[in-house]
Amino acid sequence: MPRYITVYSHPNCQFPIEDNETILEAAQRHGIDIPSSCESGICSTCKGKVYQGNVTYRGREIHGIDPDNDDHEALFCVGHAETDITIDHPDIPPVYRAKQHPHQVIGHEPVRDYLTRLRLKPVESKMPYLPGQYIELLDQDKRYPLSIASTPSDDFIELHIQTNANHETADRILELCQLGQTITLRGPLGKAFWHPTGLPVIFIAGGSGYAPIKSMLQALIQQGFTQPIYLYWGVRDPKFLYEDAQLKAWASQIEQLHYIPVISEPISEWTGRTGLVHQAVCEDFTTLSQHVVYLAGPFPMSYAARDTFVEKGMPLSQMYSDAFAFEKR
Ligand code: FES
Repeated sequence: MPRYITVYSHPNCQFPIEDNETILEAAQRHGIDIPSSCESGICSTCKGKVYQGNVTYRGREIHGIDPDNDDHEALFCVGHAETDITIDHPDIPPVYRAKQHPHQVIGHEPVRDYLTRLRLKPVESKMPYLPGQYIELLDQDKRYPLSIASTPSDDFIELHIQTNANHETADRILELCQLGQTITLRGPLGKAFWHPTGLPVIFIAGGSGYAPIKSMLQALIQQGFTQPIYLYWGVRDPKFLYEDAQLKAWASQIEQLHYIPVISEPISEWTGRTGLVHQAVCEDFTTLSQHVVYLAGPFPMSYAARDTFVEKGMPLSQMYSDAFAFEKR
């Protein structure tokens, strides 16, 4: 299992660290700026707090830390994480800055007749991002926002392109993303990323809005989780549940994970849940005040769910959807 660093004041900011890396090196590799100067344990510029976990210097001489270390401080430029750790420094920025990142298309896999799964490999360094974020695919004067389905620890970016919804846009995206082509992504973007709160989680995906939910769920599976997680996936017809088998497998292996597919226009052989996906959630929960909800899919679905959940007493601060940001424009 990889070790993870969490930034105390920005708990959404979490990234893995290799055994041979210093905390500063891991942060830099993931695009997080911890201030530094000497980078050799002398100047204290990188000194910050350790709220949880063990930091060691592996025999290296350091300056500026009291031998008793009652203030639980560490020099991140020479410190190694021996466990998962939670740290802070007053000048760590909250999230990663969006930049342009060239990628090469290494996977172009049609999934049934309505979706293409793309895999993109970084041409230079990996783009850091948080599970649940999205990128823009740049095309001359146009930008196509696309959710990331992979996790930050993967060596590739996975995208799900729905080809039956908006043909013109999908056609252009697939034209740009032919196998072997180099394309430019801008990111990471979006605020509906994973926020570790410890509360039970309800993921609601509509159609290919499953992509960012998959990113968060896979990251949680990699890290391990203890809170109940309910994943509702709403589609028109069962044939659109394109990763149904994988979700059923995860749900059968992980006791806290509950997978509920919901079909809005069921066929006769469907025996599962039917109706609008957010209404299925309302049928299952009398109150939502102690849950966190992530919504991804068609914007009208997100707005309808939000309004219904607010009526049921759920605080807006416990709902995440990038649709909310677009609504304010
Ligand atoms: S940067 Fe100087 S002690 Fe870490």
